[in-house]
Amino acid sequence: MRTAIYPGSFDPVHLGHLDLIMRAEKLVDQLTVAVLQNPTKGCSFSVHERMEMLQSVTQHLPHVKVTSFEGLLVDFAKKQKANFIIRGIRAFSDFEYEFQMALVNRKLASDLETIFLMPKEKYSAVSSKLIREIGFFGGDLSEFCPKELLPKISAHLKNRKP
Ligand code: PNS
Repeated sequence: MRTAIYPGSFDPVHLGHLDLIMRAEKLVDQLTVAVLQNPTKGCSFSVHERMEMLQSVTQHLPHVKVTSFEGLLVDFAKKQKANFIIRGIRAFSDFEYEFQMALVNRKLASDLETIFLMPKEKYSAVSSKLIREIGFFGGDLSEFCPKELLPKISAHLKNRKP
C-alpha cells in the first residue's frame, strides 16, 4: 500500500492545490491531505474551516482523506505509516525553501521520500497569500479558488487584514 501525505497550510485551498491533489492521488493508494495546526502562524481560516473546504472539494476522490496535524511532519508521517511527502513547486522561487525542507525531513526520517509535483502552468502564480490579499480588497477570486468555495472565501476575506 503506497501512502502519501500532502501537508500544508491551505489558508485557503486554491486551484493549484486541487490540481496537485488530483495528480498525487493517481500515484498512490491513499493520499492524506494534512492541514497544519499552528497557532503561532496566525492563519486567516481556522483549521476546521480549512479542513471543511478541502473535504468539500475532494469528496469525489475516494482515495483522498483530509486531516490535520501538529508538531513535526515526519512524526505525523511515521504515525500514518506514509511512504511519501508530496509538495508542489510552482516556480523556481519555490525551489530553495522546498529543497531545504526536503533535505531536513530526510535527515529526520531517511526512509520518507519527498516527491515534488508541478501544477498546471496556469496555476503557477496562484498562492494563498495573494488570494488573502485580493480577497481583503474585495477582488475577483474566480480564477484562483474552487467555484463552490468562492462565496465562502470571498465573504470571509473581505476587509480581513491579510
Ligand atoms: O503550505 P505551507 O505553509 O508552505 O506548508 C508548510 C508545511 C506545513 C509543510 C511545513 O511548515 C511543515 O511541515 N510544518 C510542520 C513542522 C515541521 O515538520 N517542520 C520541519 C520541516 S523542515
